[in-house]
Amino acid sequence: MGKKILGILLAAGKGERFGEEDKLLQDLMGKPVIYYPLSTLEKVDEIDEIVIVSNKEKENLLKNLIKEWNFKKVRNVIEGGKERQDSVYNALKTFSSYDYVLIHDGARPLIKEDLIKRVIQEGLEKKAIISGIPVKDTIKLISAMRVERTLPREKLWQIQTPQFFEYSLILKAHDKAKEDEFYGTDDGILVERLNYPVYVVEGEWWNVKITTKEDLFLVRWLVERGFLK
Ligand code: CTP
Ligand code: MG
Repeated sequence: MGKKILGILLAAGKGERFGEEDKLLQDLMGKPVIYYPLSTLEKVDEIDEIVIVSNKEKENLLKNLIKEWNFKKVRNVIEGGKERQDSVYNALKTFSSYDYVLIHDGARPLIKEDLIKRVIQEGLEKKAIISGIPVKDTIKLISAMRVERTLPREKLWQIQTPQFFEYSLILKAHDKAKEDEFYGTDDGILVERLNYPVYVVEGEWWNVKITTKEDLFLVRWLVERGFLK
């Protein structure tokens, strides 16, 4: 029997660095941003069902849009939490009976099927996979505008989503983080804290996260020129 895979699409953030309007509802060629990562997750055969984690403000709007778009795999739209980690944890606790989970930021609309498939393929074997890209710039640790240390660039990677985990492993990792009141900026760190090996798949520079207005300009430029075709 095949392993059951849940996709979690995160859309519960406030988008404070973007501004007043909801960044995931911005227009991209006639559809809101969130349509694109959802449609890509929907196309990946390995993913059985999808849960969307939303903030209260757009929960009903999303439910209606999903009906209209006729996506087949969306199991539910649920409410997120204060931090990204709380939103993921909510989704993990609400649904069980899956063997694996693929977690993706709704704010990364340029994700392609191929990268998701590579992450899943590696993840089924390794149980904990994150995606990322090697850094291009030199990274230094700075305190009060003074350099503390220069980090070895050849070992530094920028970490993105998708991230893929064995369900029981990531649930355990989130349970422990909750217990310790630990907050991390991705899900991988929570598994690292269990001293369980986490592996990396090389992602794509283009899989940017819409954080500020500039990012939306780039994403629009690409999508209008057929990047997702
Ligand atoms: N996210 C979430 N729940 C939260 C916070 C973030 O589901 N409580 C989601 C966002 O919707 C986004 C992804 O996690 O798809 C990555 O987060 P980020 O880019 O930081 O988005 P926001 O938190 O919305 O933006 P900001 O940090 O600028 O407020
Ligand atoms: Mg945030």
